[in-house]
Amino acid sequence: MARGRFISLEGGEGVGKSTQLAALAQALEGRGLEVVVTREPGGSPGAEAIRKLLLEGEDGRWTLRAEALLFAAARADHIAKTIRPALAEGKWVLSDRFLDSSLAYQGEAGGLGFEAIRDLHRFGSEDFLPDRTLVLRLEGGEGARRAASRDADGADRIGGRPPSYHALVDAGFAKSAEADPDRVRLIDAAGNEATVTARLLYALGDLLP
Ligand code: TMP
Repeated sequence: MARGRFISLEGGEGVGKSTQLAALAQALEGRGLEVVVTREPGGSPGAEAIRKLLLEGEDGRWTLRAEALLFAAARADHIAKTIRPALAEGKWVLSDRFLDSSLAYQGEAGGLGFEAIRDLHRFGSEDFLPDRTLVLRLEGGEGARRAASRDADGADRIGGRPPSYHALVDAGFAKSAEADPDRVRLIDAAGNEATVTARLLYALGDLLP
């Protein structure tokens, strides 16, 4: 049996990631693929428990380094318990966020740097990478504005950080794409839903059976 493919969907706050995740899963299923949709932080019982530690409570609950370690620990469990087994069964795995979120949020915006985050990933997960990473992007802080109106009743610990942090997150995703252009593709998230989904599918063209 052919090994499945592992695709991660990334983006800053408010870029329409959840809607596109569902639409992309449906489009892949429409092509006869068996798709497992998962998310980070989370995606396995252990990693979901870590998710609560990461996203609830005060912004200062964890130091930046502890936060990066918790994301890396959750990811190691998610890969071992959910992602690798599904791929071995020939399924396609679609993850709402993965390593590039740690590179962008903790590495670039948090200031720990890409190398430190990659080191944690090498140790925790043997540097296991997606076959393709699709990063949804909106120009000029539009995503952050949408997220602010959506989350008026309170964002999570990390989503609620200031605009300056989220601008750096965006720069971090661009840096990921620059460093690894074959794996990481920036996708324009402007326009109607179907148009954006078509852009995502196009960026997977060479992987589709
Ligand atoms: P979500 O809003 O997509 O559910 O993601 C939860 C939050 O966690 C979001 O603000 C991004 C953040 N995050 C990181 O800071 N680093 C990571 O490695 C991951 C996976 C998410």
